[in-house]
Amino acid sequence: MDYIKREGSWIPKLGFGTFNLQGRKAIGALEFALDVGYRHFDTAQVYQNESEIGQVIGHTHVSRDRLFITNKVWGTNLNKARFLPSVEESLRKMKQDYVDLLLIHWPNKSILLEESLEQLMEAKEKQYCKHIGVSNFNIELLEQVQQLQVPILCNQFEYHPYIDQNKLLKKTREMNCFVTAYCPLAKGEVTDDEVLGHIAAKHKVRAAQVALRWLVQQEDVAAIPKSSQLMRIKQNFDVFNFHLSEEEMARISELRSKNKRYINPEFAPQWD
Ligand SMILES: NC(=O)c1ccc[n+]([C@@H]2O[C@H](COP(=O)([O-])OP(=O)(O)OC[C@H]3O[C@@H](n4cnc5c(N)ncnc54)[C@H](OP(=O)(O)O)[C@@H]3O)[C@@H](O)[C@H]2O)c1
Repeated sequence: MDYIKREGSWIPKLGFGTFNLQGRKAIGALEFALDVGYRHFDTAQVYQNESEIGQVIGHTHVSRDRLFITNKVWGTNLNKARFLPSVEESLRKMKQDYVDLLLIHWPNKSILLEESLEQLMEAKEKQYCKHIGVSNFNIELLEQVQQLQVPILCNQFEYHPYIDQNKLLKKTREMNCFVTAYCPLAKGEVTDDEVLGHIAAKHKVRAAQVALRWLVQQEDVAAIPKSSQLMRIKQNFDVFNFHLSEEEMARISELRSKNKRYINPEFAPQWD
């Protein structure tokens, strides 16, 4: 495993996404992921699996300080009245005193950014989280965060070989933040890619593993693939025993001309 080191934390570059995993399916997948070696888990208030995550990390032999858990505060909870109570509720569901990273899930234009960020900092002050960050923030919003001098550690956004995120990556790194790449497998579409398949054959791995390797080989980029299938959970984790050459990295980067987005941040959820 490779790590990103920030403010005393070692963040595993390969994490486990949990969108669309609930109930027994979630518990089975999470337990298997822990056994395989995953130590970084990504959830959100809106994923409705916080209690499953709590149950699994509460019963594992892996000590809490070896885990890196991210949670995200949903847009309807970003105002002063709801932010901290919603985080307290999340921690209750997870049976945790803190999460490692707490993010604003999506910007909500109907609530002042300053107000949400103040609440985020308050959550850190109360030790509900070790680190704070944002998700789905574009360059303009990151600049506002900078102006407000809020010390965020991470921006989580859509990033895979089919999207050009160079400008957002540059801005995120400039702020000394790391990137968490979501939809790192382009929702599974990378599996049929000819270029990735060709490179994968050379390394005797799968196209999905090449896509993940391409991400984690980039500076300050972590990736959080999701799978409900045991074989794929294991496969997605096995990306640290081969290395892509500079030429292979560049060839994969060229795939950004496909310009595919699976989640459009301009169509932010309707909050009312
Ligand atoms: N911050 C945000 O707004 C935001 C938005 C989206 C996602 N996320 C986070 O990012 C995580 C990952 O994104 P995602 O789940 O949307 O997409 P993803 O990880 O790119 O792709 C998941 C899809 O790919 C399939 N898959 C997984 N491994 C595979 C493999 N080795 N070969 C072939 N297919 C494979 C999965 O199916 P099976 O389950 O059947 O294997 C699933 O349908 C989420 O779970 C969530 O934690 C955050």
